[in-house]
Amino acid sequence: MYSWKTFALVSLPAIIQTVLAQNVVDLSGDGWTVSSKALNISVPGRLPSQAHLDLLAAKVIDEPYHGLNDFDLRWIVNNNWTYTSDPIQGLSKNSKSSYVVFNGLDTFTTVELCGQIIGTTNNQFRQYTFDISKALGKCVDDAVLSLNFGSAPKIVNDIAEDPNSQTWPYGPQQIYEFPNRWFMRKEQSDFGWDWGPAFAPVGPWQRAYLVQFDEDESVYPLNTDLDIFRQGQINHLAPDQSQPWVVNASIDFLGNLPNQSSMTVEVKDLESAKVIKSGSLENVTISGQSITGSIIIDADVPKLWWPTGLGKQNLYSVNVKIQNKNKKELANVTKRTGFRTIFLNQLNITDEQLAQGIAPGANWHFEVNGKEFYAKGSNFIPPDAFWPRVTEEKMQRLFTAVVAGNQNMLRVWSSGAYLPDFIYDIADELGVLLWSEFQFSDAMYPTDQPFLDNVAEEIVYNVRRVNHHPSLALWAGGNEIESLELPLIKAADPQHYSYWVGEYEKLYISLILPLVYENSRSISYMPSSTNNGYLYVNLSAPIPMAERYDNTTSGSYYSDTDHYNYDSRVAFDYGTYPVGRFANEFGYHSMPSLQTWQQAVDHDDLHFNSSTVVLRNHHYPPGTTDTHNFKNSSMGMGEMTIAVERYYPMPNKHDSIANFSAWCDATQMFQADMYKSQIQFYRLGSGRPERQLGSLYWQLEDIWQAPTWAGIEYDGRWKKLHYMARDIYQPVIISPFWNYTTGHLSVSVISDLWDTVRGTVNLTWVDLSGKPIARNAGTPKTRKFTVGSLNTTEVYSTKLSDLSLPDKTDAILVLSIDAQGRLPNGGSAVSTFTHRNQFTPVFPNKLSLVDPKVNVSFNAKNQTFTVEAKNGVSLYTWLDYPAGVVGYFDENHFTLLPGERKNIKFHVQKDETDGEWVEGVTVRSLWDQTTPE
Ligand SMILES: *[C@@H]1O[C@H](CO)[C@@H](O)[C@H](O)[C@H]1NC(C)=O
Ligand SMILES: *[C@@H]1O[C@H](CO)[C@@H](O)[C@H](O)[C@H]1NC(C)=O
Ligand SMILES: *[C@@H]1O[C@H](CO)[C@@H](O)[C@H](O)[C@H]1NC(C)=O
Ligand SMILES: *[C@@H]1O[C@H](CO)[C@@H](O)[C@H](O)[C@H]1NC(C)=O
Ligand SMILES: *[C@@H]1O[C@H](CO)[C@@H](O)[C@H](O)[C@H]1NC(C)=O
Ligand SMILES: *[C@@H]1O[C@H](CO)[C@@H](O)[C@H](O)[C@H]1NC(C)=O
Repeated sequence: MYSWKTFALVSLPAIIQTVLAQNVVDLSGDGWTVSSKALNISVPGRLPSQAHLDLLAAKVIDEPYHGLNDFDLRWIVNNNWTYTSDPIQGLSKNSKSSYVVFNGLDTFTTVELCGQIIGTTNNQFRQYTFDISKALGKCVDDAVLSLNFGSAPKIVNDIAEDPNSQTWPYGPQQIYEFPNRWFMRKEQSDFGWDWGPAFAPVGPWQRAYLVQFDEDESVYPLNTDLDIFRQGQINHLAPDQSQPWVVNASIDFLGNLPNQSSMTVEVKDLESAKVIKSGSLENVTISGQSITGSIIIDADVPKLWWPTGLGKQNLYSVNVKIQNKNKKELANVTKRTGFRTIFLNQLNITDEQLAQGIAPGANWHFEVNGKEFYAKGSNFIPPDAFWPRVTEEKMQRLFTAVVAGNQNMLRVWSSGAYLPDFIYDIADELGVLLWSEFQFSDAMYPTDQPFLDNVAEEIVYNVRRVNHHPSLALWAGGNEIESLELPLIKAADPQHYSYWVGEYEKLYISLILPLVYENSRSISYMPSSTNNGYLYVNLSAPIPMAERYDNTTSGSYYSDTDHYNYDSRVAFDYGTYPVGRFANEFGYHSMPSLQTWQQAVDHDDLHFNSSTVVLRNHHYPPGTTDTHNFKNSSMGMGEMTIAVERYYPMPNKHDSIANFSAWCDATQMFQADMYKSQIQFYRLGSGRPERQLGSLYWQLEDIWQAPTWAGIEYDGRWKKLHYMARDIYQPVIISPFWNYTTGHLSVSVISDLWDTVRGTVNLTWVDLSGKPIARNAGTPKTRKFTVGSLNTTEVYSTKLSDLSLPDKTDAILVLSIDAQGRLPNGGSAVSTFTHRNQFTPVFPNKLSLVDPKVNVSFNAKNQTFTVEAKNGVSLYTWLDYPAGVVGYFDENHFTLLPGERKNIKFHVQKDETDGEWVEGVTVRSLWDQTTPE
């Protein structure tokens, strides 16, 4: 039916598709020039790209991440950059109409064709189409597109100075580096954040196409919304799992669709290649530039999609065709998808739940396919300040690390950018749920009509674009708007507080909620990332969701929580952690590894207090465009060193690089221990009245090389945090809870399996040379336990003063379990679960450490490293690998007893050393933090 032709281009190595009635020219590739008139610079460019990247490729600038380039390259952002195409080849001369389609322009752009202005843009997150039929008529033989990108910081400053522009009290408008980010629909962290640089890049950051129609009856699909839900499903209510599935397909198109068009569908199981449903879509309607229809599939026919750890990731392909009344195919779209329901339960606690011992209030947890589960994961930030250099390979490595880390959910933090489909695709395949958010963060935003109209376009486009991905778990309105911004504005302007609440509701509830519901029946919506939920939803009210705000009763729980406390005195005090239904943010920053620092800073800067190292720490952010705010940066550096001094041996090595590296390690030890303490506490909550069902720590990965909260460094190297999280996010764990004020120690087994687990716990006290402590210090050696579905069981409890410990500084309790249970959706097969943990009755800097004589050897035959401690207990055992390779050890950051041998593999994800990295693998432990060498 289609005839495909490919044209070779002079310099655009683009694919040109000519179908019978249309001609599509892909504008990606090189064949562009990037220039600044004011600076007299002109270099070869690409699409998609951003000016910094093309200047880097042309060697006009050094790597933007090097040294203090975050500050030194400000001249780029202060100027306009124009992307000009070479004459576009392969255009049709007899087309009836022509359009240019941009999937993303960043951000303030004037688009010209052959010198004629054809439009302007002001939203990085929208897809734009412009009718160029007239403009092209005159220059079809040498058509040149030119995209003039303005300086975002300058443009928003101009908007701010306009007396007609909105203003807010000072408090809530959080400035990281460049001010006035709330006036632009551009990635907010481009203007700086406390974990990243402020490059404010510009450019055509997504693909672009030129589309020509030769016939009147011809359409080109722009965006497709595939919504799969249980019949009768309503976003904020629990779906009825016995209902059949509805597959609703809605295609936005360019061109003219004849009135009597119809749609057909074919749904195919991608594993068996079996077609489970085909035929005409029912109730087809054409509304504006969209055509929509739906079909029903029997409840039990599709195999369900599950997140990792809870079942298989069954995927289906859905092919939708649009036909005219003579059954001629006009367009054809295929999406890969899955059948699942995902629901954020914020309903009031029921009597039945109360009877189970759950505290009153409201739920705050996710249910997949009707099942409660424990969400384990972290927060995803933009993986690079320059999205065009985020590759699929890099994201594959990152998501592999997520799954290897036993994480089943990421919160895709607002305000970076909406994720490209290829990242959702990876998440669909690997079973990682993505809690997604609209891009608003830590500020109040304008509510004038043009701004709201612009936001509406962005919301509709992105909700429709990603709705078919089974990994999509939630839409949230913005980051910390309700939990942080409203209190700040209340403090700043108490008289007008209800006005400001109205402003909040206008944008996040009255505008956005209906747009989500109109385009998705399958996804729940909450107006802000952390909140107390809603009182009720009334879709016909002007404010369709009535937020609970502070209408709470003590003893009841309603909310998800976020928690940061940089007073490290209470880092391990459980009493200071929030008690809620779900923890969606918590953390403390640490230094990246020496190897990662070496990628970004010069040799002379490799010490803790070098200007470059300090100024790359943006916690606390400078708060202005002044680039050398040592005061704020030093406060954050101090928080890390003070925490180390409080709890860990302080490195003092002769060699300055070794000393720097040891200090970086020490900050990571504190970070890992602190997150572990919180994750264990939150997981324990699954068996307590708060029925706590999720912990997502801040943050998964780094945007660049700097001190941040990340568990995975910029190039993919795991910090101690990610190894720790991998361990503590296992389904069945044993955890000690020590109240160092009261001297009380309690040990619990925690399971997030859906079936009962049974097993034995072993509790063994040894001294630091590894010798058993007499009579096991009064602690029983073993105990049997049973833990119910998604629950906890306390297996031991004591006061430390009741134990016979000869020397508390020379004692360690090794806790381990061996348990049997069934995996979720794993049939009747019984699996064995083991876990080991440890507890010391003093903090690490008070321990009477001995040199464990830990060493590592490599067995080339089975590609395994063997680690042994010959002389004592090796604490914080750390296998390290050199630069040039990316990957992870099976296990790292562990305790090893004398006489134990651990065989560990390294999973290579990328190797630029030709295998030589193996020679550079080393092992060290807490003991090495105390030695001068
Ligand atoms: C810079 O770009 C912006 C956005 O396209 C435009 O409004 C402005 O006129 C441009 N300025 C110059 C000097 O090109
Ligand atoms: C089509 O519309 C009718 C009437 O509203 C409804 O009963 C039917 O379920 C719809 N079909 C599908 C597949 O949604
Ligand atoms: C339309 O679908 C058929 C399969 O039915 C496929 O072979 C063809 O490539 C599709 N055409 C387009 C333009 O996607
Ligand atoms: C939930 O409980 C609150 C009281 O906390 C009540 O005001 C509200 O109406 C209840 N919502 C629903 C949907 O029943
Ligand atoms: C909820 O609290 C807000 C203030 O936070 C108040 O204005 C409102 O009247 C309360 N609503 C209900 C139903 O109690
Ligand atoms: C110890 O328990 C008390 C009482 O529950 C609590 O207030 C305190 O925060 C706890 N301290 C630590 C160190 O966990």
